[in-house]
Amino acid sequence: MWEAVGNSSPGTTMLVFDRVTTLKQHLRKLERQGLRIGFVPTMGALHDGHLSLIAQARARAEVVVASVFVNPKQFGPTEDLARYPRDLEGDRSKLASAGCDVLFVPSVEEMYPPGFQTEVEVTQASQGLCGAARPQHFKGVTTVVLRLFSIVHPHVAVFGEKDYQQLTVLRTMARDLGLDVEVIGAPLVREPDGLAMSSRNVYLSPEDRQRALALSRGLRQAEARFAAGERRGAALVDAAQAELSQVGLTAEYLELRDAENLEPRAEARGPVVLLVACRVGATRLLDNVIMGRVSS
Ligand code: PAJ
Repeated sequence: MWEAVGNSSPGTTMLVFDRVTTLKQHLRKLERQGLRIGFVPTMGALHDGHLSLIAQARARAEVVVASVFVNPKQFGPTEDLARYPRDLEGDRSKLASAGCDVLFVPSVEEMYPPGFQTEVEVTQASQGLCGAARPQHFKGVTTVVLRLFSIVHPHVAVFGEKDYQQLTVLRTMARDLGLDVEVIGAPLVREPDGLAMSSRNVYLSPEDRQRALALSRGLRQAEARFAAGERRGAALVDAAQAELSQVGLTAEYLELRDAENLEPRAEARGPVVLLVACRVGATRLLDNVIMGRVSS
């Protein structure tokens, strides 16, 4: 079934689908008309970071499709699947106002019908960094994104650099499988005080939210050292580490990697990314900064 929801542009509506078959019928019709489809997969609880991806898709495609699906396959047994923030009504109106044309909100049974047993895994890029603490996570991400791609047939799909390893894993999947989709990385969107926007920020107590600013502050310090000519990876890591230590935070990882393939880098030569994951209270936060990229 689908229903229409008012959209900010006069005379247009956002269509909402919860079934694979009806969504496919609708999108295949648009495909036959030769329209370019842009796709933004999400897990909902949308913020301005997500909406920036809609704008990127809008700029590159005639039809913008978003999905909201909290994917159980990418959560570990002790993770926050049950309490992951959900706000479908808020998401619908934000997406409609942002100029999204089609929203897909499938149930778990619709995405993974009984008997579903296929998994897709990108073996190398999924290891280390977040893959170390969340061993099944990226397999869950690639499986759901490939399933979504096979439903939507996007010409272009937009993912945030906020989840840098995820973006790299998905680019690798698209390349290895020869998928006819252009995977676009969109810049990380921050709160005015520097905190990387995340659906999980709502978990932070006011005190923890203050402490969490040490992540972006630390990355900014590293970036300043890089701008001043520092190229030693250890010095850049130390600059970020100092900010974390000052508020008593210990990073799960804080590493300099190649921005293309995520291989470890001892020196910041060529495009590199400094990535951090850190638990603040019970909330696991990610942040990163890209350095030495020619243009973005
Ligand atoms: P979710 O965390 O909802 O994020 C959806 C998309 O928004 C991802 O591409 C993510 O990188 C991007 N995003 C989140 N915060 C951002 C920010 N502050 N700035 C820019 N982009 C941001 O990532 C997922 O969902 C899931 O793993 C998914 C890809 C949907 C597969 O289930």
